[in-house]
Amino acid sequence: MRPDENTGIIGKLWLAIWRLRDSLRVQLLAWVVLTLIGATCFNLYDSYRTANATAELVTDRTLLASARVIAEAVRVETGGTVAVDIPPAALEMFDTGYGDRVYYQVITAWGSLVSGFPDLPSPTVDLVGQDFDFRSTGVRALTLNHPVVGLPNDGEISVTVAITHNSQFALRRRLWLDDLTKQLVLVLLAGLVTILGLQRGLAPVLRLRDAVRARGRDRLDPLAASMVQTELRPLVAALNDHMERVQNQMAAQRRFVANAAHQLRTPVALISTQASVAAREHDAARRDEALEALRGSTRQMSRLASQLLTLSRAEPGSRRPRKDVIDLADTAREVLEGQAEEALRRGIDLGLDANGPVVVKGDGTMLREMLVNLVDNAIRYTRENGSVTVSVGKADDVAVLTVEDSGPGIPHAEREQVFERFYRVLGTEGEGSGIGLAIVREVVDGSGGSVTLGDAPGQGLLVTVKLPLA
Ligand SMILES: Nc1ncnc2c1ncn2[C@@H]1O[C@H](COP(=O)(O)OP(=O)(O)OP(=O)(O)O)[C@@H](O)[C@H]1O
Ligand SMILES: [Mg+2]
Repeated sequence: MRPDENTGIIGKLWLAIWRLRDSLRVQLLAWVVLTLIGATCFNLYDSYRTANATAELVTDRTLLASARVIAEAVRVETGGTVAVDIPPAALEMFDTGYGDRVYYQVITAWGSLVSGFPDLPSPTVDLVGQDFDFRSTGVRALTLNHPVVGLPNDGEISVTVAITHNSQFALRRRLWLDDLTKQLVLVLLAGLVTILGLQRGLAPVLRLRDAVRARGRDRLDPLAASMVQTELRPLVAALNDHMERVQNQMAAQRRFVANAAHQLRTPVALISTQASVAAREHDAARRDEALEALRGSTRQMSRLASQLLTLSRAEPGSRRPRKDVIDLADTAREVLEGQAEEALRRGIDLGLDANGPVVVKGDGTMLREMLVNLVDNAIRYTRENGSVTVSVGKADDVAVLTVEDSGPGIPHAEREQVFERFYRVLGTEGEGSGIGLAIVREVVDGSGGSVTLGDAPGQGLLVTVKLPLA
């Protein structure tokens, strides 16, 4: 669960720890340290077993030595009695300062006790130490069978020596603690080296961050990929690609503003001249003429302004994406009705060819603007008494809209360029600033469709727009 930011000091601490999860440094460090801790735990378990085995071996060796010294002291007295005087050295060798208690037992092969504790348990296997409970403490015992000269029967006595665990456990602890200390120092060292390595490894990334931060708003030249490690170079390449795109975009934007200003300047200059002419003119007829021209220039400017506005709205990201359900046939009918007067004035035969609704999804206003521009172009560039036909239909699961006219058409070589902003075919008569088809392209692209220019049967332009059906 993600911690809440407003829950006092514990909440804040928890949040800080939570955020550390996102840190690359912490993640790498955690992997290294966890692996080391796992390896150390296994090692410590293993070294505990080794220390235990070593301490047992050392104890067993001492027990054997002691048993041997005792066995050497066993003698057969005249009359056949077996006797022993325990040599002090046999017991003193256990005096290691850990307060251990030593027990022994010497018995003959036929089971009579020569000396020591009668109830001392003895191991089942000779010469191998074994742990027992004796007089409510743990002891380690070892038995040695030893031949004695002069004994009847098979001539052997059996010596068992046992010792409490104090010195054995102390030795085990010391061996193991030594190892533990070494392992901990190693883990600490490895952790430190990892931190240092990470610090060094991440330094180029931080340098890259600083280099990006230190750049001014308009510095978009590529960053040097060599400043980071090979694994990170694709990231720098992607960053450079992105900056190049932004640079191109900014250049296009600048060109656009310059072009727009240039386009606006012409009608504004005209308006100013025409206004002065009208103001100076005393003859009513001539003044009306100047005012009419003034109105024409104003109309041209207002159209340019509204085209610019539509274009900026058609650009990606400038409007909230909309998924209106639009019947293209209906929209075409409305657009044609709106343009009917102009067509009539120029004697153009305006027709619609649509059989039933063709429904697409998208931005209704923008799709309408697209149609307005296509029909406007067709009427505008077709000579008087020509014809313009809009058809709406479906083919292969896409909506197909065509606008066909009997005008001059567009030369093949310029069919791509006319979609650029402010581009007009040289020698084009009539008002306009070359924005209409740019709007069409933006709208069609934004709706996931395509637009192509072709030849109308006979003569004229055939514009085909394909859009995905709803
Ligand atoms: N139907 C057409 N027939 C012949 N030429 C056309 C046709 N449509 C467009 N063109 C050519 O393509 C050019 C670009 O058209 P576009 O609609 O982008 O701009 P415009 O009509 O000149 O100006 P605007 O539409 O911004 O007022 C036009 O200037 C014209 O030369
Ligand atoms: Mg146009």
